[in-house]
Amino acid sequence: MIASTEIKTVHKIIIGDSRRMEELEDESVHLVVTSPPYPMIEMWDKLFRMLDERIDKIWTKMEVESSRKLRERYVKEIYNLMHENLAEVWKECYRVLIDGGIACINIGDATRSINGMFRLFPNHSKVIEHCESIGFVTLPYILWKKPTNKPKYKGKGAFLGSGFLPPNAYVTLDCEFILIFRKGEPRKFEPHDPLRYASAYTKEERDRWFTQIWEITGTKQTIEERRVASFPEEIPYRLIRMFSIIGDTVLDPFLGTGTTMKVAIELKRNSIGYEIDETLLPIIKEKVGITQKLLTSDYSVEIFKRRP
Ligand SMILES: C[S@@+](CC[C@H](N)C(=O)[O-])C[C@H]1O[C@@H](n2cnc3c(N)ncnc32)[C@H](O)[C@@H]1O
Repeated sequence: MIASTEIKTVHKIIIGDSRRMEELEDESVHLVVTSPPYPMIEMWDKLFRMLDERIDKIWTKMEVESSRKLRERYVKEIYNLMHENLAEVWKECYRVLIDGGIACINIGDATRSINGMFRLFPNHSKVIEHCESIGFVTLPYILWKKPTNKPKYKGKGAFLGSGFLPPNAYVTLDCEFILIFRKGEPRKFEPHDPLRYASAYTKEERDRWFTQIWEITGTKQTIEERRVASFPEEIPYRLIRMFSIIGDTVLDPFLGTGTTMKVAIELKRNSIGYEIDETLLPIIKEKVGITQKLLTSDYSVEIFKRRP
């Protein structure tokens, strides 16, 4: 029997665009845990415009267009194109996942006043539509409720006095989605697989984790005055424990600050992370222990930079 303490894991940081994951072979990943840039959330506008010149062109036309009807059409086109770009990554995730592998995608809907109209962009439903058309099986999802969000009035500040008068106030988005998909049939194991048994969760963990609402406080969103959209470690911690076993390989195609990789190291899973923004590398290195030379003989981290 293999003791989980004997497992040595390997972690790869790839600085490159995950719409193509040419470094990864088909069916080489057991679990995807990720959070993409959220379409129609202002902080990601620039990135989507840079990723796809069609988005940039339509956006520029929208800014000078006088017809409201046409501007509305452009908003829809931009929103759809943003999701088409994300879907390129979901397709690659499907390719690299093993049969029975699972993808957990954390995404929030967006609310925004655009063309003078406050509205919802239901990102979670677009991701479900795309993943289903790729071939994923949709499983019951989790609602991540962040206890810190306060109700808003007309999408702006907190509720004011008139916020008590019906009917023009809006419900606050205080939940994000953790969508869960599977490729094909459930995974099969040999009876009494030792690593599977060593990866078991407790009854208390099962009762807390396999419920639909997770109340978890968000994490600090600025590092050295830089805005980052990281999730708290508790999110990948639960998902990796729930949907993989020790020694598996976990992929995060939108690595950001490296939270998924940090947790994968701690949980003795191998991992791969793609990040397009090279300026995040120092933050990732710090999170996974390279900067502070915390590396032990239990794990190694390799960094690859894709040539343009
Ligand atoms: C919401 S953040 C992920 C945050 C991460 N979960 C964390 O805890 O730090 C999304 C990240 O995806 C990156 N990104 C966006 N498009 C990408 C692409 N096509 N390929 C690789 N990385 C991408 C962004 O630069 C950003 O760092």
